[in-house]
Amino acid sequence: MSSQSHRGRFITFEGLDGCGKSTQLEKLAGVLKAQGLSVVVTREPGGTATGEKIRRLLLDTSTHGLSPMAELALMFASRAQHITEVIQPALAEGHIVLCDRFTDSTEAYQGGGRKLGSEPVLALHRILCHGLQPDLTILMDSDVAASVERARRRNKADAAKNGRARHDENRFEQESRAFFGRVHNAYLAIAARESQRVVLVDARRTAAETHARIVEIVRRKVRLAAKTA
Ligand code: TYD
Repeated sequence: MSSQSHRGRFITFEGLDGCGKSTQLEKLAGVLKAQGLSVVVTREPGGTATGEKIRRLLLDTSTHGLSPMAELALMFASRAQHITEVIQPALAEGHIVLCDRFTDSTEAYQGGGRKLGSEPVLALHRILCHGLQPDLTILMDSDVAASVERARRRNKADAAKNGRARHDENRFEQESRAFFGRVHNAYLAIAARESQRVVLVDARRTAAETHARIVEIVRRKVRLAAKTA
């Protein structure tokens, strides 16, 4: 399914846990909406009622012994439902879909982090997602140690706020520095392979600078393309 087969625009945000991607996605949504564009904000795993149930299972730290292949399958189960129920209908209606993580996350985390390799991820994407590709992917590039530290702090703060003293909400954030190093390298390999689609944004700058850069990229790559489509 090429990007030409839908009327809307599909933009995904990628990066390590704690790189500031969700904040940037919300800020971009605000700018696009202020311009009168119709924007759908969604996320993976999740984005549908079924997907959110799968998300809870995947991120819950009390989920023990999940095999990497089972984890991979659950990520794609959530995604297949999300595409059918939310992404495809929104694109067909001409909306801009901003999605927090998509298949690049699976290639980076399960392919790289869990060492399953890219091949099973790309094969499942072809079969279960009919090869749906984002029109643009913003890959927020950040320091491994700083991002993971930030994500852990955020989780602790959230847990304290919600009265879940010992319940860390993200199973992935318990992974090792080496795991996130592999995730980071896999992301860079995707960006090198798919340089037309994936734009690397330096997330070490201030939030305002990063936001300005993202708006510029989206204007250039998506809005202008939309006008000439
Ligand atoms: P989330 O809270 O959305 O991440 P972030 O910390 O970026 O806000 O948690 C999603 C987690 O799931 C994150 O650690 C990455 C992981 N993940 C995968 O391992 N594979 C995938 O395909 C997706 C979509 C997410």
